[in-house]
Amino acid sequence: MRKPIIAGNWKMHKTLGEAESFYSDVQGRIPDPAKVETVICAPFPFLYRLVQLSEGMAPSVGAQNMHEEESGAFTGEVSPVQLKDLGVRYVIIGHSERREYFNETDDSVNRKLKSALGHGLTPIVCVGETLGEREEGRTEAKVSGQVKAAYAEISPSEAAGTVVAYEPIWAIGTGKTATAEEAGDVCRSIRETLSELYGGEIAEKIRIQYGGSVKPDNIGELLAQPDIDGALVGGASLEPESFLRLAEVAS
Ligand code: G3H
Repeated sequence: MRKPIIAGNWKMHKTLGEAESFYSDVQGRIPDPAKVETVICAPFPFLYRLVQLSEGMAPSVGAQNMHEEESGAFTGEVSPVQLKDLGVRYVIIGHSERREYFNETDDSVNRKLKSALGHGLTPIVCVGETLGEREEGRTEAKVSGQVKAAYAEISPSEAAGTVVAYEPIWAIGTGKTATAEEAGDVCRSIRETLSELYGGEIAEKIRIQYGGSVKPDNIGELLAQPDIDGALVGGASLEPESFLRLAEVAS
């Protein structure tokens, strides 16, 4: 069985003091890590401090993005070597906000995925359709195309340890959630695509999260879908009690 994974994506929120306070509030209260994996993907300036505070305990610390190169003249960027050196374990790749506002493409997502895996980071690879694409009946084609492009030249053994996050763009931060059935259907189609690429055994190992207005009161029905193995959560991950509740429901 796949262990559920609840990842908070704080996006560009909080001060350092607020981030520290969140960690001290949740520490020791996260459900058994044998039952649920928990991650906080924080802004870069907080990562070092949060790794220190976590002391190797849950929730683990993740980044929201990385550059694919190890080092170089890339002003304003952060490399996988730097993340690994800090003790960061996860990295979100290809979030729709990165694709929309920072020109990330399927190709750059593929390069970042290769680089994250090459440096021992666990990638959370984001895919998802726009409202227009859903209304035109192109959701599964879009998402399947994104998965195939992201995983080009990734070996089965590497793919097995990755996490895919299905986030319909129209459901992010809008309060509109895909119904559990809609989300479950797309996650099943993602697993079918992974199965085409890697065979059923590997596809069954890859965890697929749903993201988009996930809250403590809707996560239960989403996780009840057989192909949804967790959630990538924005707004509802910002408050300790809400994050704890999400982890509890998943455990
Ligand atoms: O990465 C998280 C998602 O973009 C979802 O954000 O839970 O605020 O809708 P949200």
